[in-house]
Amino acid sequence: MSERKAYLRIEGGKEIELPILSGTLGPDVIDIRNLGKHGVFTYDPGFMSTGSCSSKITFIDGDEGILLYRGYPIEQLAEHADFIEVCHLLYYGELPTMEQKQGFDSIIRHHTMVHDQVTSFFKGFRRDAHPMAVMVGVVGALSAFYQDSGNVADSHHREISAHRLLAKVPAIAAMSYKYNTGQPFAYPRNSLSYAANFLHMMFSTPCEEYVPNPVMVRAMDRIFTLHADHEQNASTSTVRLAGSSGANPFACIAAGIASLWGPAHGGANEAVLKMLEEIGDVSNIPKFIERAKDKKNPFRLMGFGHRVYKNFDPRANLMRKTCHEVLNELGANDDRLFQIALELERIALEDEYFIAKKLYPNVDFYSGIVLRAIGIPTNMFTAIFAISRTIGWITQWNEMISDPEQKIGRPRQLFLGPKKRDFVPLSQRE
Ligand code: SDX
Repeated sequence: MSERKAYLRIEGGKEIELPILSGTLGPDVIDIRNLGKHGVFTYDPGFMSTGSCSSKITFIDGDEGILLYRGYPIEQLAEHADFIEVCHLLYYGELPTMEQKQGFDSIIRHHTMVHDQVTSFFKGFRRDAHPMAVMVGVVGALSAFYQDSGNVADSHHREISAHRLLAKVPAIAAMSYKYNTGQPFAYPRNSLSYAANFLHMMFSTPCEEYVPNPVMVRAMDRIFTLHADHEQNASTSTVRLAGSSGANPFACIAAGIASLWGPAHGGANEAVLKMLEEIGDVSNIPKFIERAKDKKNPFRLMGFGHRVYKNFDPRANLMRKTCHEVLNELGANDDRLFQIALELERIALEDEYFIAKKLYPNVDFYSGIVLRAIGIPTNMFTAIFAISRTIGWITQWNEMISDPEQKIGRPRQLFLGPKKRDFVPLSQRE
């Protein structure tokens, strides 16, 4: 790391020297770890200007619209790799050789089936339970099943937990969909690829043979790749913070699922579809654009804007391309919602408000249209995001646990509450 310094001069007080650290890519950081010893803390709600950790996993350049997984551009991975290769790359740091890929793929396929007791958890939910509510509960409950790999200090135990989560989260997601529909759970098929197996667990029934459409399988696989990791987003930061206390990895991933569910984060893909349905016709777009620009109106254009990307989200471009492929395959290029989305994007990107605030479509803007075309119901969209992001969460969790600098996360605060005061007996309160 470089030896450059920053100096913080506090009015009427001392000047504090702070080291500046440089990474291999991206902005330098000012190391403020020792600032607290000088009796002052930084204040940064929402972490607008705060780096929470060092990491070697994913790099984003928001101004240039660049996303790298372990140095590889997302465009190249989406085009040439499949999701299992991407999972190996993220967790182990390298693209697998043929032999490594076959071995890793086999491990994941043979871990996909859940313990039969897990099916009992579903009976406690209403049939109309939101799949994300079910996933928070059932994934968290897996922490009660695997005492044999509970030592988070043991890298082999962490690897086993990573395999189990990567394999079982899609099974649990598909089970939450089946439970909503009243159809029986579909057991995984070890002969199928990750994406094909997920579609099989979602849509096959005991009544007839189900053969996943290869174009849908490829689209599903690409959606998994595009959502796999994204440096220190809200849900990943949740997993890291939960894991920093040494908590069970299954419980930490359940915390990540809970955070992802929010409409400002992973819940946006479901919110985009609802917004497009509400717009209903391209003639209504201007009205919604004006609502999004009205400071007094809490409405935001769902699927637009990003904390880091102040240029196109590269995933949105790839998702739009996948949209065209899937709708083309289905002979539905004139899909009503897709046409509204394309027109909404065109109008917004010409509007001064969106240009000035650098609001571009993000990964969630088109993903819902692809998922809907594949036959995935809207309430499952964020669950699909959770399946994909599980590899990112568990990889970031593993990196955090392995980091020699790692400490329990414990931020401070700016206190604005009442100063010290004495207790007032009940009889004297009016
Ligand atoms: C994901 O972090 C990640 O990497 C997340 C993610 C991942 O892969 O993990 O990329 C996945 O969560 C993508 C984002 C999905 N969310 C949405 O599409 C919801 C709609 N977008 C917004 O709510 C918002 O853009 C956020 C939450 C994504 C980002 O919010 P920020 O960075 O806190 O920005 P902000 O709210 O401070 O907005 C800056 C300005 C504000 O106006 P001013 O107060 O400066 O006048 O831009 C405006 C906002 O009002 N603005 C929008 C807007 N997004 C921001 N105005 C209208 N529509 C929008 N969508």
